[in-house]
Amino acid sequence: MLKIAIRSRKGGARADAYVAFAVGATPKEALAAVPAAVRSKAAAAAPAQPAAEGGVFTAPLGGAPAARLYVFGGGKSAEISPRKARAILRSVAKTLNRSGEKSAILDFPYKLKRMDAAETREFLLRALALADYSFPVYKTKDREKKSLASVGVAPAGAFLGATAAEARDADALAKVAVFVRDLGNTPSNDMVPRDFARRVAEEARARGLKAKVLDKKAIRREKMGGLLAVNRGSAEEPRVVVLEWKGGKKGDPPLAFVGKGVTFDSGGSSIKPSEKMGDMKWDMMGAATAMGIVLAAADLKLPVNVVGIAALTENMPSGTAYKPGDIVRFRNGKTAEIDNTDAEGRVVLADALDYAADWKPAAILDFATLTGAALVALGLEAAIVFTDHDDLSRALVSAGERTDERIWRLPMWEEYKENIRSDWADMKNTGGRWGGSINGAMFLKEFVDPKTPWAHLDIAATANVDREYAGYPVGATAFGLGLALRWMRDRAAGARGARRAR
Ligand code: BES
Ligand code: MN
Ligand code: ZN
Repeated sequence: MLKIAIRSRKGGARADAYVAFAVGATPKEALAAVPAAVRSKAAAAAPAQPAAEGGVFTAPLGGAPAARLYVFGGGKSAEISPRKARAILRSVAKTLNRSGEKSAILDFPYKLKRMDAAETREFLLRALALADYSFPVYKTKDREKKSLASVGVAPAGAFLGATAAEARDADALAKVAVFVRDLGNTPSNDMVPRDFARRVAEEARARGLKAKVLDKKAIRREKMGGLLAVNRGSAEEPRVVVLEWKGGKKGDPPLAFVGKGVTFDSGGSSIKPSEKMGDMKWDMMGAATAMGIVLAAADLKLPVNVVGIAALTENMPSGTAYKPGDIVRFRNGKTAEIDNTDAEGRVVLADALDYAADWKPAAILDFATLTGAALVALGLEAAIVFTDHDDLSRALVSAGERTDERIWRLPMWEEYKENIRSDWADMKNTGGRWGGSINGAMFLKEFVDPKTPWAHLDIAATANVDREYAGYPVGATAFGLGLALRWMRDRAAGARGARRAR
């Protein structure tokens, strides 16, 4: 992770590299976007098309304010999408690392689409802190060399008005995002439910929080028949992890975050084809996100009560595995016919959603890599949100727009319930070929009190990327963390505003 500081207006400490961008429709305009203090040096070294994207040129600066100037080809327009900004910051970090620079000053002249000035600063500071993320844990050699350690952000352009407090918050969130990504990127042989629970408990302890971990015995006592059914094929015990942050008033109902934590999804008896099966190590990203949200709420000391619940198991085939045709009884007493053991996420989450109701939450959000159909529906650009509560939908979609974690609503009309009708039990766990993501949501809906505002986020498309994409490094993205934090802060600000108005 990069250490970020906001430079004082007068300048401050010197650095190895000064990073500027040439942005504009003409070469002249592009050089005018370079800060005045280094413009003449830039002009002397500039190629014919300084704004050409992907290009970069350098010039010596002689130490004031940095040893070397790097000017990146910034394209024609100074208004760019957030994801493009993230990609630019990542390429800057890579370039400086390749050149062995240890410290840098960054002058970022862009405006971001869909975000106001404060949201832009928050997004960019976080993206910058994460710009050099990689997961070298299992590389014995050939690790990418990282020289770049710190970046001083010039309080101009997109960073005009940036404060040390904003940099601190971004640092805290980025640290949690690293933890969430690391959980996902760790291969499933080292991330069984017990590993996940231990890692979360360690993170909690470091913050003075306590993680409650239900082992198999306790899960039996809770009658979580869905989680136990999915777990039957696995040699590894299931776990449920509960993490609480009590930043709100005592007795205030908490916001509950529930996550699907299938540490590896082979499909079970209804085994998946082997091609890409390895991707199913990321089938616990919902749980990782839910845990990250609580940790981040604690780090930012949000004035709300929060509870996170992770439901963890592998989904494996074996002589003891649950089978198509089996009927499972859940914690809330309902039953489901298992039509396909690969639709295991909803079976696991059913019990976790019902368990969350024990906290009498003000709202429940669940995160789950639930359906491949989510990729078919919206591609890689957005996760799906399902909710019957229009206000919650609006608030979440808006939070997603302003954090570049975009979500789009699909319906849960009662007509779809017919899809999951079973001849033998209260429902079945699949709903045929059409509307695959909706069928998953309809199943989950059976486990939530309709009076509780609840949203299901199917993050199958956004939880991880299989190559560097949209400025995300290959692997886990931690998608949903920013959105959830934004949503909680919006809610807290709204409540304060409403109190003031009264
Ligand atoms: N974990 C998968 C969904 C998934 C697929 C996530 C691809 C990320 C990428 C889930 O457990 C699953 O297997 N769902 C099935 C449901 C079907 C059997 C009704 C699916 O999407 O095919
Ligand atoms: Mn599955
Ligand atoms: Zn799954």
